[in-house]
Amino acid sequence: MRIETFLEEQGRLAVKSATGQDAPALIRPTTDSTHGDYQLNGAMALGKRLKSSPREIAAAIAEHVVREPAVMSAEVAGPGFVNLRLDSAWIAQRLADGLADVQRDGVPEVEAKQRIVVDFSSPNIAKQMHVGHLRSTIIGDSICRLLRFVGHDVTGDNHLGDWGTQFGLLIVGMRTWGDPALFGKDAQDPIGELERVYKLASAEAKDNGAFAQAARDELKKLQDGDPENHALWESFVAATRRSLDQVYDRLGVTFDLWLGESTYHSMLPGVIDSLQKHDLSREDAGAECVFWGEVAESGKEVPKELLRQKEPFIVRKKDGAYLYSSTDLATLQYRKDTLKADRSVYVVDTRQGLHFKQVFALARLLDMELGLEHVGFGTVLGTDGKPLRTRDASGQVVTLASLLDEAERRAAEHMVQEGIRIPEDQKAEVARVVGIGAVKYADLRQNRSSDYQFDWDKMISFKGNAGPYIQYAYARIRSLFRKANTVESAALALDMDDFPATQILLDQPEERVLGLCLVRFGEQVHQASEQHLPHLIADHLYNLSRAFSAFYEACPVLKSKGPQQQSRLALAAMTARQLRRGLSLLGIEVLDQM
Ligand code: ARG
Repeated sequence: MRIETFLEEQGRLAVKSATGQDAPALIRPTTDSTHGDYQLNGAMALGKRLKSSPREIAAAIAEHVVREPAVMSAEVAGPGFVNLRLDSAWIAQRLADGLADVQRDGVPEVEAKQRIVVDFSSPNIAKQMHVGHLRSTIIGDSICRLLRFVGHDVTGDNHLGDWGTQFGLLIVGMRTWGDPALFGKDAQDPIGELERVYKLASAEAKDNGAFAQAARDELKKLQDGDPENHALWESFVAATRRSLDQVYDRLGVTFDLWLGESTYHSMLPGVIDSLQKHDLSREDAGAECVFWGEVAESGKEVPKELLRQKEPFIVRKKDGAYLYSSTDLATLQYRKDTLKADRSVYVVDTRQGLHFKQVFALARLLDMELGLEHVGFGTVLGTDGKPLRTRDASGQVVTLASLLDEAERRAAEHMVQEGIRIPEDQKAEVARVVGIGAVKYADLRQNRSSDYQFDWDKMISFKGNAGPYIQYAYARIRSLFRKANTVESAALALDMDDFPATQILLDQPEERVLGLCLVRFGEQVHQASEQHLPHLIADHLYNLSRAFSAFYEACPVLKSKGPQQQSRLALAAMTARQLRRGLSLLGIEVLDQM
């Protein structure tokens, strides 16, 4: 269930009965549980609106809301809040429902299912993937998993930067300096060779006019479908994909589609036609441009911030080359007409915000009706507070693969320090799951809009809000179950999944806190998927792990007996199931033993 949504509905009904007004109850979880589980804040605004005492209104609402079976008590506090304490038996019943729902752990599906394209990762051909692409990959993958789990039809699309003026330079450069063996099938670092040649070529083009012209000619030939150039371009794409696939494999990230920018090449002239037909663009010094001021003057609706834009939005350069802008418009047309998408979601660095605002504004003016969202994210910083470099002090590129190697190495080292003993033959696998999980969790636990510091020590920790801590909490419960099987009374609890129907008892305060936390899972999942905020899941998992720890310390499980033991084992099973499900929504694996 979605507990806050449910309480808000009940609260709204109480507001209506108490005041005759149709107004939100504004239910929020309390920060201090001594005052209650939830707080209803709606009376304050109503007091202002009805020009009467918020406390009196709060008292009237409290009287109604307490009739709801979920609510045990409702007390007026402060200038007009209502503190709600939920009924423990009601919570216990919701938990029993969740326990029985092995498929979905009590998380409902959305009513209105949509077809959603998620554009994520999207690195560029012949270049190393950088840290920004890593963030897009990790966040985008989690967003896909969340949207899928709540029931949407999701298409993950890797919109590779595989087309553009750089390929003219690369073609001539490769013919001049390239070593095909270095970017062929068995090459160690194919992207390294492509980058080396590209650097030479762009330097040469600066002061060698004939070379620059040759690059433009080769680009034109490529775009006109010249077979030799096309084959060369394909070999660049294939070489880059081999390196990319290695990183995606290690991250466990997959895509439904790989429709790079080149896919839309033939649609680009049509995009310009349709912009012109709608009077949205015009020629300026040979280039095709959108002047937002002029678009607004012609009576069309233009977002305010674009009116402040001095530079036009260029959709075709004066040499006839198309741009990122025109490609994105064509891509949208394709997603709408061919993929029949209801929504197109872009997981791309916040710094590309202006680009997407302009693309989205044009899409609306072209009457493309589909939901458009730019899901931005901040910059990864080093411990010095400056943007994390993908080159080390000596100027060497730190590849993402070497970053993941380091994560695994540090995870292994850290487990030795923590005295966690792992059988020799499992060490590599455990280091992999913990290391990769730590990198992903460190990213996903942040509100994606903020910048965050890449800090190995905080990331690989078994104590704070870190991936290994959550994975460890899970493994500990699994080990509890292995032991429980030797206890006669718990013989039924063979696995967390086929746990028998059980009456949940929430007598001890720690049991109740854990139960209340478990009941909130569905709400967290839905909020995270609606707002594209995976950190809400990480927060939940961290709170849940801590609530479980406190419960486990205060409430003996294996030493308890009868219905009490059965209930405590059920709480442990549900905790483990939520930890596993929550981590999988973040794209993080679990280990049964650590
Ligand atoms: N290739 C671009 C970059 O590296 C990201 C593409 C994002 N997706 C899009 N449809 N524009 O910055």
